[in-house]
Amino acid sequence: MNKLDYDGWSIKSNASMRQDKKYYESIFSQGNGYMGIRGSLPEDFENQSYERCTYIAGVFDYIKEEITDMVNVPDYMNTKITVGEEVFEPLHESVDIEQTLWLRDGILERCYCWKTKNSGKIVIKSQRFLSIDDIHTALIRYEIVALEKPCDMLFETGISANVSNQSIEDDQLKQNHTILKMAMPIEAWQDEADVLKVKTTGRAGIHIIEGSLVQTEERELLPEHVKEKEYVGTKYAFRAKQGKSYCFDKLISVFTSRECKLDQLNQVILAHIKKNKTLGYNTMYRKNKLAWMKKWETSDIEIEGDIKIQTAIRYNIFQLIQTNAEGDCTVNIGARGIMHGRYKGCYFWDTDIFMLPFYVNSNQEAARNLVMYRYLKLDDARKNAKELNLQGARYPWMCSIDGREQCESWDIGKSEIHVTADVAYAVDYYVRMSNDLEFYENYAIEIYAETARYHVSRLTYDENKDMYNLMFVKGPDEYCGITSNNTYTNWMIRYNMKLAVEGLTYLKENRATKYHELTCRLGIKGLEIKKWDTIRDKISLPYDDAKYLYIQDDTFMKLEPLMIDDYKTNESPLYHSICFDRLQRYRVLKQADLVLLVTLFPDDFSVEQKQAIWNYYEPLTLHDSSLSYGVHANLAANLSMNQQALAYFEKSVLLDLEDIMSSTGKEGLHFAAFGASWQALIMGFAGIRIKEDTITVNPNLPMNWSKLRFHFKYKGSDYQIEIKEGTGHIQKDGKIHNKMEESD
Ligand code: BGC
Repeated sequence: MNKLDYDGWSIKSNASMRQDKKYYESIFSQGNGYMGIRGSLPEDFENQSYERCTYIAGVFDYIKEEITDMVNVPDYMNTKITVGEEVFEPLHESVDIEQTLWLRDGILERCYCWKTKNSGKIVIKSQRFLSIDDIHTALIRYEIVALEKPCDMLFETGISANVSNQSIEDDQLKQNHTILKMAMPIEAWQDEADVLKVKTTGRAGIHIIEGSLVQTEERELLPEHVKEKEYVGTKYAFRAKQGKSYCFDKLISVFTSRECKLDQLNQVILAHIKKNKTLGYNTMYRKNKLAWMKKWETSDIEIEGDIKIQTAIRYNIFQLIQTNAEGDCTVNIGARGIMHGRYKGCYFWDTDIFMLPFYVNSNQEAARNLVMYRYLKLDDARKNAKELNLQGARYPWMCSIDGREQCESWDIGKSEIHVTADVAYAVDYYVRMSNDLEFYENYAIEIYAETARYHVSRLTYDENKDMYNLMFVKGPDEYCGITSNNTYTNWMIRYNMKLAVEGLTYLKENRATKYHELTCRLGIKGLEIKKWDTIRDKISLPYDDAKYLYIQDDTFMKLEPLMIDDYKTNESPLYHSICFDRLQRYRVLKQADLVLLVTLFPDDFSVEQKQAIWNYYEPLTLHDSSLSYGVHANLAANLSMNQQALAYFEKSVLLDLEDIMSSTGKEGLHFAAFGASWQALIMGFAGIRIKEDTITVNPNLPMNWSKLRFHFKYKGSDYQIEIKEGTGHIQKDGKIHNKMEESD
């Protein structure tokens, strides 16, 4: 499948959306961190209420006692165009469409050529974006021309609350077809602008207010306001002259009671509409462009030699930037961003392990909010542990604005416990890379201590062997069933406990008052810290000395082999055709497990050990999760297996653009894969490592790439790295830093 054109900075399609409509809607998703929309066509009235998706970061409400869903809020793009008696239907065969997404500034342009029955050809152009300069603003501009004859035209655009949620269960086997209306109109008014206020229907009761103002230079056109039960809009009826372009700018303002006081929402929206009116479309367009330019200054990656891969990595980065609410530490990033309701919009380890490094090494302030979110959910994590008769703090597998477990399937929700240690690892990654001591002393160490306590209470002591076992867990490879001593999890737990011991020792030696305050508040005694230190070395790590091979878990080697090629004939996950109960008894992996561990601790494994892990597990891995390809590319590049590295990298970086897993339409964009692709490039192909506070590069570029250039933020400095013809240079804040390390 090759439906898109790539030119380095844009993604273009001139295919009709009649087939694969959902795929294009996912690909052309737009966001600005505060809000996100799918690329659905605003003029398509065939769309179901749950297909017109607009989300706002943190706007969740409860659908059950403790379970939330991300609310689909009113659709502010809604537009209707009529010529004579004919209503414009963008998916009709009389319409050709060309769509371009500009990655440099987040602009989506569409050009429709509509052959009407009675009024000749009509060209409709639209240009829209969600401003990252002012996150409460979205804009769309229409330009309409009747090419062949004058005609009666009707242009109407408004805000529709006729939207609903179709949540898709987190259990991968169940498809939920329940349609819920989660936001009800409570107020609407119209003067110069159209304003609609809704309230979410659960106990969170969030108010969302949206306003839209239409501007046109056609002074003779008089606007008319339309108000229906769940809709407000502005309409222009006019006689269109042949060949004349009619332009309408829609300036949209959005606020919620999450960031504004309830009784101030109306004033806030009015003031914002007024501000937008004064600025106008063109000024806001320029401001958005400038804001994006700043983003790209520290996050762009240049690859010479492969235009498709060049565009794809920019697309990955672009999506990561536009889905992160970077100024808001009360929210995190959903596995499908803020542009799709899959997994009820919930946050997973996908952020901590897969996406976070991109933010940490390009925009440390944004990354701080992501780890701060985890700190703010520490109390909920304490409740999660207590509920399971455990101590300390246990991070949930899935969470939202609610830090309690949002995963409703027992085996994953209760057993995939590596997420708690993943959070500690991520916090440490942030602290190491940013040198943010304030965060370390005031927040990170508390997270390490409480999570270490949780692990200790979750381990089981084997007196005979004087060892600790982690019983009945699921590792990253979700096909492993419920097993014991998943090496990935045990390793992460050990590391988490080390962080706790080191953190508290640091506080004791350097910040005595803070140490006293924290240990008193948490009731930690010196002996408890000593115990963590002893226990961590006694946590089982299954290993075969003769083969230099770490074993995935206690039951893995007892599983039945599977002739993978007989079953896995394409990239679609095997759980679609074989049930999880059967899969868990086969010796196959759903996704990277030990391979992932090696990429997280590249200096802790010898080359023999890395190679043994690759040789044994890679052939058994089905890559039935989008999190897998990028991780494999990373390790393959690290092991100088350049061809395999490139093959895996292509699958990861093009996962959505080329719909590698046939799920992009139905499930939305895969944000962890975006992050994994970034890591494969930086840690894998470029081989970035930090050794004694110095950045080193050990590149293994694919043959056809003549140059790789990128930025890497470390401890507040901006490093610019260029790798070309086997050699490379590092500049620090614009000055030569050091030469590249020789390849191993
Ligand atoms: C993967 C998990 C991942 C989740 C959300 C699942 O299919 O196995 O590792 O966290 O999707 O992306």
